[in-house]
Amino acid sequence: MQYLQIALYIQEIVFLNTDYSLISRQIESLIDGEFDSIAVLSNFTAILNQALDNLNWVGFYFLKDNQLVLGPFQGNVACYRIPLDKGVCGKAVTDNETQRIDDVHAFAGHIACDSASESELVIPLVVNSKIIGVLDIDSPILGRFSVEDQTGLELCVEKLVKHLAQCH
Ligand code: SME
Repeated sequence: MQYLQIALYIQEIVFLNTDYSLISRQIESLIDGEFDSIAVLSNFTAILNQALDNLNWVGFYFLKDNQLVLGPFQGNVACYRIPLDKGVCGKAVTDNETQRIDDVHAFAGHIACDSASESELVIPLVVNSKIIGVLDIDSPILGRFSVEDQTGLELCVEKLVKHLAQCH
C-alpha cells in the first residue's frame, strides 16, 4: 500500500503537466474531414500513444452481440473478446462509467492481456445516448492515471464520439 502511495505521488509530479486541451485540439484537427471510422479510430490511438508517456496499450473494444470485440489499437496483441461481466472493460460498460484503476492486480476480474500492465483507464464511448464500446488505456506504472488524466482523456473521447456520430 505504501508503495502505491509513493507511486501516486511520483505520478502527480511527473505527469501533472499533460496539456489535454492541446491534445484535444490536435485530435480535432487530425480527424477533421475524415469520416471512415476505422481510419479515425486508428489515428486516435496513435496520437494518444505519441502524446502520453508510460503507456503499454491504448485501443478500443466495441460492443457486438453482448460482448466487447477488439478494435484499432497500439500495443501488444490483445484478447479478441471480453464478456460484459469480465474485466475492467466489461465493468465500464455495465456501469456506464469510466474506470480509473490504480492497481489492476487489486481489481477482481481484471483481464491481463499484457502482463506488463499495472494501472488502467477505461472510458465508455457513448454515441447518440448509446454505449458502443470503450477506450482502454494501460500503463506499466502503478497509479499512472490521475483525476486530471481522466478528465482530459474524457474530453478527447467527447470530441471523438461527436465525430463518430457522422462516420461510417
Ligand atoms: N485489461 C482489460 C482487458 C483488455 S487489455 O488490457 C488490452 C480488462 O480487464 O478489461
